[in-house]
Amino acid sequence: MRILSGIQPTGNPHWGNYFGANRQYVTLQGNKDDAFYFIANLHALTTVRDKERLSQQTFDMAVYFLAIGLDPEKSTLFVQSDVPEVTELTWLLLTCCPMGLLERCHAYKEKLAKGLTADAGLFTYPVLMAADILAYDSDLVPVGEDQQQHLEVTRDLAQTFNYHFGETFILPKAYVVPAAGKVPGTDGEKMSKSYNNTLEVIEDVKAQKKKIMRIETDCRPMEDPKDPETDNLYLLYKLFASDEQRQEMEEMYRRGGFGYGQVKKELARIAEEYFAPIRERYAKFQADPSFVRDVLAEGARRARAKAAEVLDRAQSNCGICIPK
Ligand code: ADP
Ligand code: TRP
Repeated sequence: MRILSGIQPTGNPHWGNYFGANRQYVTLQGNKDDAFYFIANLHALTTVRDKERLSQQTFDMAVYFLAIGLDPEKSTLFVQSDVPEVTELTWLLLTCCPMGLLERCHAYKEKLAKGLTADAGLFTYPVLMAADILAYDSDLVPVGEDQQQHLEVTRDLAQTFNYHFGETFILPKAYVVPAAGKVPGTDGEKMSKSYNNTLEVIEDVKAQKKKIMRIETDCRPMEDPKDPETDNLYLLYKLFASDEQRQEMEEMYRRGGFGYGQVKKELARIAEEYFAPIRERYAKFQADPSFVRDVLAEGARRARAKAAEVLDRAQSNCGICIPK
């Protein structure tokens, strides 16, 4: 069974990315033929228009992959653009894709709703994502909730292609982590780069503590009992806590008589401790760029071999070949 997922190198990954998606990559890896993880730099080009930033962030994301515990012996790690077969496959899929399907996709719809103009890259973004997935005969795609729609599109396109040209693509399934749900940001909205409310996995500990101390809370009197499940701070704390710590905190909320400052300090402490090994590994791999490059080169070689096989199958099934 092949597992595949991608992250856009659009900035420093935050807790939402980590708990909503990235952490699962690590638990799902095991065998490098089965687990494929890549850096979606072509997708990032729809938003990042600065060459130094894009290339630096692509490298930083590779360092992050290694730091969170993705092991090149247990998974294939590569950069999207190193597999040109994927962009070729995108064209084949585009010819099977009704406009209406893409008009319903959220990234494009949200941009239009904000009164911004979208380019064809953003409009066809889900088709590139479908090609990313179908090019490797992927079975399972771990993603956050907001990517489920793109998985539906992928399945639709695969089915349409298979209907016209015969069995070609495997229909993949999304794997959404139910427990994490939506991680809230420092303002209580969904944590997101676009909302400027993030807490990052790799972040200066002191700066992070400051941000945590500024998290918005309600102004009910200290002595009032509170429902933990509707409280931002508690929801964040829960991400890191053991069952026992979680229960203790929950009881404290229900009893009341505590200050949010106390919870914030505890959150800063537990997060610092939790991410310490990841921060350490990040520094180690960052100081060894040639190792990182070698990992990506080897990953690209493996990924390309698989994508070439699938592209060949797709091309000959739809007639992009000379008769034998
Ligand atoms: P952002 O909203 O910060 O731009 P992305 O859209 O790049 O984040 O998300 C990358 C991955 O992380 C996606 O699979 C997404 O579902 C997951 N993710 C992002 N934010 C959150 C969140 N607040 N809670 C849970 N998962 C999230
Ligand atoms: N669109 C995904 C995101 O923004 C990133 C991505 C690109 C991806 N191609 C993919 C995720 C293929 C899973 C599979 O998070």
